Amino acid sequence: MGSYFISFEGPDGAGKSTVIAQVAAKIAPKLATQYLVTREPGGSKIAEQIRQFILDPKNDKLTAKTEALLYAASRSQHMAETIIPALAAGKVVFSDRFVDSSLAYQGMGRNLGIAAVKQINDFATSGIAPDLTLFLDVRPEVGLARIAKDRSGQEDRLEQEKLTFHQRVYQGYQQVNEQDHERIQVVDAERSLDQVVADCVKIIANHLPPELLKD
Ligand code: TYD
Repeated sequence: MGSYFISFEGPDGAGKSTVIAQVAAKIAPKLATQYLVTREPGGSKIAEQIRQFILDPKNDKLTAKTEALLYAASRSQHMAETIIPALAAGKVVFSDRFVDSSLAYQGMGRNLGIAAVKQINDFATSGIAPDLTLFLDVRPEVGLARIAKDRSGQEDRLEQEKLTFHQRVYQGYQQVNEQDHERIQVVDAERSLDQVVADCVKIIANHLPPELLKD
């Protein structure tokens, strides 16, 4: 039985969660199988508890290495409890973030190096990677301006980082996107929500294996 694993990536403020919900709703009627929408950090009860800990602004003493290990730990649990069983059941999985987030945020944003962060994530995921990744491309200053407008005063620990951190994250994504340009499709996310959703739906429909689509 086929299955398909899609991740969505992008800087903070790219609008991922809204886009994913709308994309999944539009793809659903075309699917010959069930689908699942999940997110990182989180996506299982234990992984969501790790998420709360990582994103809590009170945990300001967390080292970069501990942070990277916690994201990988959350991911490992998410894989075991949620993603692997869904793929084994032949579902299409939409994940809001996956390993590329760690490569960009911890590898470049926190200066741990993309190679080192990739190594701990290979361990955490046993090398299972998305079949397709949509990178919602918005410049960091544009993403941060959206967040400041939408949830000023309620930003999580990562969102509170300075613009220079988010610029490094963006550069990290550029590197990852270049290295893996077969898997990662870039979508201009500075346009209207409708345009971004329409592009994502088109790309996914073109990539899904025919046996997962209705005739
Ligand atoms: P996310 O849930 O996408 O943010 P929100 O829904 O609040 O917009 O991600 C939370 C934060 O965690 C975000 O700043 C990106 C960061 N992050 C990492 O630094 N590394 C990772 O591996 C992941 C999955 C997320």
